[in-house]
Amino acid sequence: MENHVAKPDPASPIVLVIGTTGQVGKLIVEEFDRDLGNVRVRYAARKPERVDELRAAGRDAVRLDLDDPRTFAHALYGVDRVYLLTGYTVAMLAQSKTLVDAAVKAGVGHIVHQGVFANWDVTDPHFVWHQMIERYIEGSGLAWTHLHPNVFMDGLASEIATNDGAFSVYWDNRRVGWIAARDIAAVAATVLRQGPSRHGGKEYWLSTEVASGPEVAAILSDVLDREISCDVRGPEEFLASIAKRGLTVESWYADAGVEFNRQVIDGRMGYIGTVRDDVEFVTGRPSTSLRQWGKENLTD
Ligand SMILES: NC(=O)c1ccc[n+]([C@@H]2O[C@H](COP(=O)([O-])OP(=O)(O)OC[C@H]3O[C@@H](n4cnc5c(N)ncnc54)[C@H](OP(=O)(O)O)[C@@H]3O)[C@@H](O)[C@H]2O)c1
Repeated sequence: MENHVAKPDPASPIVLVIGTTGQVGKLIVEEFDRDLGNVRVRYAARKPERVDELRAAGRDAVRLDLDDPRTFAHALYGVDRVYLLTGYTVAMLAQSKTLVDAAVKAGVGHIVHQGVFANWDVTDPHFVWHQMIERYIEGSGLAWTHLHPNVFMDGLASEIATNDGAFSVYWDNRRVGWIAARDIAAVAATVLRQGPSRHGGKEYWLSTEVASGPEVAAILSDVLDREISCDVRGPEEFLASIAKRGLTVESWYADAGVEFNRQVIDGRMGYIGTVRDDVEFVTGRPSTSLRQWGKENLTD
């Protein structure tokens, strides 16, 4: 692959977006396609073919593997703002620590981190990992903005599509807070366009509607005019479902998932079932309801 990065121009900040093939990242690409604002965007991807694809579409793109810090200097050269998104893995700890260190060395000014919807004293391991990363970012001396999304509505789509209109929840019949990935992407892109003078030191909470699994199923059935059903299960069935679906999930991560469901049910993470909606504060437009998300994402 050719060694290629955009030439930095001090007049226009450069934003590096990580995770561009994922649920949220691909929507951030769309957000910037729609409105670049006063920034230039460099997209990072782990797979060389994805980098080629992005470049073929006229975008600045660079290879970055979060598990290989040797790829960081090239990706971060000249960058002013970074969107730090990691996948569903405990490796997020080492990935984020090394990326933040490299960002400091490269002269980055602002890190925007995609975390979780957590109280400060949460004990669920996955949530704890994200908080450790946030504390590390704050200690780095870089300006920061933390995004705290609750459960992604978009996680429902593939299960509903492949499971004959049914999805499962493992938090019994408790209510949880939902957020559309498109809203996370819109908040992320706005923060990255406007930068640290407006958003530095801010935390944005992204939990826009509260509903139990059966309530979500009822809303979606009504919107789509066909039956969507919810299989209500408990935490202990979560591991079995991973195995049944043939998914490869690290045991640390899977156990944290069980713990999340347990704590939502026993009330230690009862705050997961609350609305805290900062979407309109940041983007100027209302957040997406479950009804609207269903219409936009599930109609054939
Ligand atoms: N799902 C939820 O309800 C929920 C709720 C709150 C917070 N979150 C947080 O959201 C984050 C996940 O967001 P998402 O659903 O958009 O993720 P996703 O769809 O799983 O996508 C992950 C992205 O990260 C990239 N990536 C993974 N490993 C990488 C590596 N070693 N180097 C470079 N890139 C790598 C992937 O690229 P490849 O294509 O190369 O794999 C992909 O673009 C997690 O941190 C999770 O804790 C999720």
